Amino acid sequence: MSRNLVYVAPFPKETTLRFARALAGLQDVRLLGVFQEAPQGEARALFHDAEVVANATDPQQVADAVRRLAARHGPVHRLLGILEDLQVQLAQVRELLGVEGPDVATASAFRDKAHMKDRLRAAGLPCARHMLLRGDAEAWSFADQVGYPLVLKPPSGAGCRATYRVSSPQELHRVLAEIRPGPTRLVLAEEFLVGAEHSFETLTIGGRVVFSSTTRYYPSPLEVMENDWIQWAVVLPRDVSGPEYQGVPALGRDAVAALGLRTGMTHMEWFRRPDGSLAIGEIAARPPGARIVDVTGLGHVDAQGRSVDLYRAWARAVVDEAFDGPWTRRYAVGVAFLRGQGQGRITAVEGLDEAQRKMGALVVDAKLPQVGWMRSESYEGEGTVIVRHEDTEVVKRAIFELITTVKVRYER
Ligand SMILES: Nc1ncnc2c1ncn2[C@@H]1O[C@H](COP(=O)(O)OP(=O)(O)O)[C@@H](O)[C@H]1O
Ligand SMILES: [Mg+2]
Repeated sequence: MSRNLVYVAPFPKETTLRFARALAGLQDVRLLGVFQEAPQGEARALFHDAEVVANATDPQQVADAVRRLAARHGPVHRLLGILEDLQVQLAQVRELLGVEGPDVATASAFRDKAHMKDRLRAAGLPCARHMLLRGDAEAWSFADQVGYPLVLKPPSGAGCRATYRVSSPQELHRVLAEIRPGPTRLVLAEEFLVGAEHSFETLTIGGRVVFSSTTRYYPSPLEVMENDWIQWAVVLPRDVSGPEYQGVPALGRDAVAALGLRTGMTHMEWFRRPDGSLAIGEIAARPPGARIVDVTGLGHVDAQGRSVDLYRAWARAVVDEAFDGPWTRRYAVGVAFLRGQGQGRITAVEGLDEAQRKMGALVVDAKLPQVGWMRSESYEGEGTVIVRHEDTEVVKRAIFELITTVKVRYER
């Protein structure tokens, strides 16, 4: 008997479809889609049937679409999606239709950064002091309490959207005038966490962390947003037994437990402060973006020495509640996010030949920016190159060489 999996993806692009492909590759499943824009060609064929709705982030429309799919194919085994902006809505529909998976309380604890920090702090886990601002007066009183710099951001943001570092009262005036917090426009204020920013991923099944892994950001996403000349990089170090990583697996495991996730992939961001202490930036109950799923898979091997397919591992966890590991961390892996300074369309990507000569042997994956593409608003730029080697220092050097050799040019 095939189990019906409904995968919700408003605008299914390559990354989103890799998760769909992993779902379709499981045993005894029938993959059903809910889209705003249906995929075409080969990707369409992954789905046995699909519904297209006007707004695939509206829980009512998703619920109606799932009901129509269930009427045609029978009960739904799992309702899934990887977008951060979908997680609470998916939980609402699960509760409404009695589908197994994270409920609204759990999804909201991961989605609402203020609620998340209340829960983490209540569990004794370190994170930035925060306040939900309903107006300017609260912003000024928060600044009096915690000092500068502080961060202002949406309570449920993603991708560094509308995130401000505020370093002085003058800046606070300016940012408040721009974002104008109010009772219906809540703004989250946070103490500014100083230190090196990292990620920590888990696969969690039945409340137990069955796999975890960490990466380091060079530099923090906020710094990349603030400086358009910076090309971001993420490195998965091979050896995480050193003092820089001490305490992190326990912190990550406790954070997952504090927010009550039973089964899923999690993506936490954490800081190592200059005084050595740890602090949680945030944690999401979904697979990470920024190619960290690929990077993590490439860094680990299974018992046969093959690179791990973390897309499949996610699918196995959320659908079958199974884990095919354990795996060995065999490589360091780095990803460079290619972009340049300027505006408009890409006119040239320089330095590719030189980069190929210098570190071509280490490259395991490249999605290069193409002439004619518009410059992306995201700190992830227009292309990525992934390198891999046993030695973390070799990977770090290759990433540095890449981002100093390859130059993306734009013209309006
Ligand atoms: N309290 C904070 N202290 C220091 N940096 C922060 C803080 N909050 C956010 N940032 C920076 O802004 C980035 C985006 O904020 P985050 O809370 O991760 O939201 P999202 O990734 O959902 O947009 C973080 O990766 C980090 O670099
Ligand atoms: Mg984040």
